[in-house]
Amino acid sequence: MSKPKILIQLDTDPHCSVFDAVVAVDAGVQHLLSYSGVEPSGVRDLVHGAMFTRGPGDLHHTAVFIGGSDVTAGERLLASVTAAFFGPLRVSVLLDSSGANTTAAAAVLSAARHQALPGALALVLAGTGPVGQRAARLLAGQGAVVRLASRRLSRATEVCDRLAQQIPGARWEPCETADAASTARAVQGAAVVLAAGTAGVELLPEALLNADGGLRVAVDLNAVPPAGIGGIEPQDRAVTRNGVVTYGALGVGTDKMRIHRAAVRRLFTRNDAVLDAEEILQIGREVLS
Ligand SMILES: NC(=O)c1ccc[n+]([C@@H]2O[C@H](COP(=O)([O-])OP(=O)(O)OC[C@H]3O[C@@H](n4cnc5c(N)ncnc54)[C@H](OP(=O)(O)O)[C@@H]3O)[C@@H](O)[C@H]2O)c1
Repeated sequence: MSKPKILIQLDTDPHCSVFDAVVAVDAGVQHLLSYSGVEPSGVRDLVHGAMFTRGPGDLHHTAVFIGGSDVTAGERLLASVTAAFFGPLRVSVLLDSSGANTTAAAAVLSAARHQALPGALALVLAGTGPVGQRAARLLAGQGAVVRLASRRLSRATEVCDRLAQQIPGARWEPCETADAASTARAVQGAAVVLAAGTAGVELLPEALLNADGGLRVAVDLNAVPPAGIGGIEPQDRAVTRNGVVTYGALGVGTDKMRIHRAAVRRLFTRNDAVLDAEEILQIGREVLS
């Protein structure tokens, strides 16, 4: 008889994400073991509990999910999880802190439906947050020139420097969007704009949406009014506004949910998958094609 599917939820926040727990159950997880406030020092013993309980032939019925609001802390947990494995004794693991990987994958796949990414200039507004960083990484990996914006140039530069180490050979343009004038400069020449700002903050006014006539697609991930990009409605899904194809947070969210559930299901097909941004983008391509 097939063993029940057990997902071990390792969350870096004081309380585990209820959202991630619900998606896990909806994706077919039968037992969810949730641990909050997880630090790298505590990971090895938790993971050993997953590795040593079922025989090698049954390890694909156990998997690890890493969540929490801090994607950098999540990356540290992922490194600790994989360091705990040895030989064939391992289980599959998925990193999706803040929903960053699944949301970024859905956003980038939305943009790619309307604009070839290799060589395209893609502006990521608020590219310093978890979702923005993952979106920037995926856009760069697809060959786009990424202009990464922050209210402070130093933060944009710091993030670009870090991402440059993850995606060698990619072209990065850190930029500041501190006011209307600098935001207008940031959007100039962009074929793609992706707004990944915190909830309820407008980053790009409607007047600047396609101000130079070259913008092809704009994706806004903020569902809380006001929209991150003026004039975009949350439900927009390939709606043309000002000559630009637009996606709103809910328009992207449907795809994000499908990718998230598919990524959880993928964990239970083998015992050695490590699902981070690029692997999740590939799952998105398969699910949404
Ligand atoms: N549609 C979906 O399915 C989905 C799923 C998950 C998340 N989301 C949404 O995706 C967006 C990004 O999520 P996240 O967790 O990465 O966001 P976040 O960490 O809350 O914020 C991202 C960035 O927003 C900027 N920011 C913060 N406060 C600001 C303010 N008052 N004015 C202007 N900029 C400000 C900051 O950049 P700087 O300080 O560098 O300027 C910050 O790094 C959020 O709106 C979230 O709700 C959507």
